[in-house]
Amino acid sequence: MEQKRILVTSALPYANGAIHFGHLAGAYLPADMYVRYQRLRGRDVLYICGSDEHGVSILISSKNEGVTPKEIIDRYHEMNKSAFERVGISFDNYSRTSLPVHHETAQEWFADFRERDLLTRSSEKQLYDPEARMFLPDRFVVGTCPHCGYERAYGDQCENCSKYYDQTELIHPRSLLSDADPIVKEAQHWHFPLGDFQEKLEEYVASHEKDWKDNVLQQVRSWLKAKLSDRPISRDLTWGVQVPGEEEGKVLYVWFEAVLGYISSTKEWAAREGTPDRWKEYWCSEDTKYVAFIGKDNIVFHCLMFPAMLMAHGGYVLPDNVPANEFLNLEGKKFSKSQNWSIELKEFLDEYPADPLRYTLAMNMPETRDSDFYWKDFQARNNNELADILGNFVNRTAHFTGKHFDGAVPESGVLDETDEAFLAEFAKTAEMVSANYERYRFRDAVVSTMNLARAANKYFNDREPWKTVKSDPAVCATTLNCSLQAIYALSVFIEPVLPFTAEKLRHFLALPDDAPLRWDGPAEYRLPAGHKLGEKVLLFDKIDDKTVEAETAKLGAMAAGDEEEERTYPPLKPEITIEDFMRLDLRTGTIREAEKVPKSNKLIRIIVDIGSEQRQIVAGIAKQYKPEDLVGKTIVIVANLKPAKLFGLESQGMLLAGSTEDTGPVILTPLSDLPDGAQVK
Ligand code: MF3
Ligand code: ZN
Repeated sequence: MEQKRILVTSALPYANGAIHFGHLAGAYLPADMYVRYQRLRGRDVLYICGSDEHGVSILISSKNEGVTPKEIIDRYHEMNKSAFERVGISFDNYSRTSLPVHHETAQEWFADFRERDLLTRSSEKQLYDPEARMFLPDRFVVGTCPHCGYERAYGDQCENCSKYYDQTELIHPRSLLSDADPIVKEAQHWHFPLGDFQEKLEEYVASHEKDWKDNVLQQVRSWLKAKLSDRPISRDLTWGVQVPGEEEGKVLYVWFEAVLGYISSTKEWAAREGTPDRWKEYWCSEDTKYVAFIGKDNIVFHCLMFPAMLMAHGGYVLPDNVPANEFLNLEGKKFSKSQNWSIELKEFLDEYPADPLRYTLAMNMPETRDSDFYWKDFQARNNNELADILGNFVNRTAHFTGKHFDGAVPESGVLDETDEAFLAEFAKTAEMVSANYERYRFRDAVVSTMNLARAANKYFNDREPWKTVKSDPAVCATTLNCSLQAIYALSVFIEPVLPFTAEKLRHFLALPDDAPLRWDGPAEYRLPAGHKLGEKVLLFDKIDDKTVEAETAKLGAMAAGDEEEERTYPPLKPEITIEDFMRLDLRTGTIREAEKVPKSNKLIRIIVDIGSEQRQIVAGIAKQYKPEDLVGKTIVIVANLKPAKLFGLESQGMLLAGSTEDTGPVILTPLSDLPDGAQVK
């Protein structure tokens, strides 16, 4: 049975770091190829994604950088959104889980479960930091591993022996927030009865034994075999979706709400389209085929937890497939941001076009096992395959048509066997590539696609139009006619993997209005003789050895930490008006007193004289400045900022400082003397 609609999602990336090739090859490129292919088939397909903006990792980054979580998510949301666009990932909507529509959706789901008495509540022992006054998430605690004695083991798992345990089992636990000794305290938490869904989930998984990937089935079966148990779905944190009806500081477990982000993103899409209810057509209908693209570390959540939630709610479609990929590594090693063993999309795209990357990643996609990105391989794929085969064929055809046929499609004469066989390849390619996409075999789909370019190159060679142009002009015209038909066919078939190149081909062909941009176009439609073509286009630049050496060396050198990293700049914020700016009251003031805030290693408390009054300001500058060096200095403060409490102290404003990751905050002072209370504009 073929469903009416296809709903496609890609795992929502954390807005906590920049997207790299590994992410792209795992959950985004395959989904985008699938979606582009389905669109060409004329199917009703919706592609949904967005930023995952909660969770402990974001809180940790914000603490590390000394900025608010909001600053972190705003920065990475914009950065990733634009990187995805530049690499041609064609989401219908890229949302964020910090939006009200998401908070409301997640809270509704929780409230619905609670009202129907599905959830249980029980207390759990957890480590609590008495100084920071909060329960400690696993990544905020280190201590000695109860299994192997490793001294820097995290709260949930030991990086040395990989064992999992409860954080209360850690020996000599220490809080990473304050260095205080945590105490064990009880906290009430909500639990989702995942165990109750054991049987239903077994049936669900069994019904997909034929169509799910082996790597997915294996993982899911081993979870099912170990028997599912209830899962806590609330956390004591200050960042996340508030648990409805509870005091502040209780939030929904990030995985519980993040998966619902697919639904809220679809709601956002529907509202923007002016059809606010249409999200239901995709989520709440038997007519939908739902495909969830993810990386292998997300399998449990998408194959068990999320389906159980959807079952518990009722009326929602379950994933029809969860084509999880394994991991992509870089030059034989795991991607590691902290060791600079990584290639960020944004930086890459500043130097190279997107299509050769998409092609290289597709040809090395970690579909059944981990794979690697190698610069040398990228060069070879670009030069020897894209440029020498596809590019060369298009180039020769365009050049020849321009020179001998006035840049228009020549009239075809009688087709001989070779011509017929060549044209028949189009329909065969359509079928073969389709079968691969439908079965989530992306590498094979691209190989079959490129085989048509290979066949075309060979056809052009074998027919030797540069000879027939003199000896038999009618045959020559036929050869070029068929070659141009092949460019049209390629412009359709390469679109899922090489969308920017496909666009260039369409531009060159100056496609007539009636030319179908559809998967079955190449089998049915022929460019008419006499049709005037557009400008010739350059498809692929070759990449030289020097570039590859430099890129590879950069990677090694950066990992060794002995070369300066290229600076990256946070994206500029949206434009404001002069009125917006004038709402800020910036004043000069002299620092009268300064002292370290006890028990904090970042904060200094200062008293600033702004002429009309004195202000107490608490600033995160203790790592850069000694209190005694600050007294007497003139600085600029934001004088009309709503006061905030930090470590129990009221901060009545904010001082101006410039900062980068390397320098930390550097305080700004006037170039020459200014009295206190001067307005800064
Ligand atoms: N942010 C998670 C990760 O990067 C994925 C979340 S997928 C969702 O691993 F479904 F939960 F949103
Ligand atoms: Zn251990």
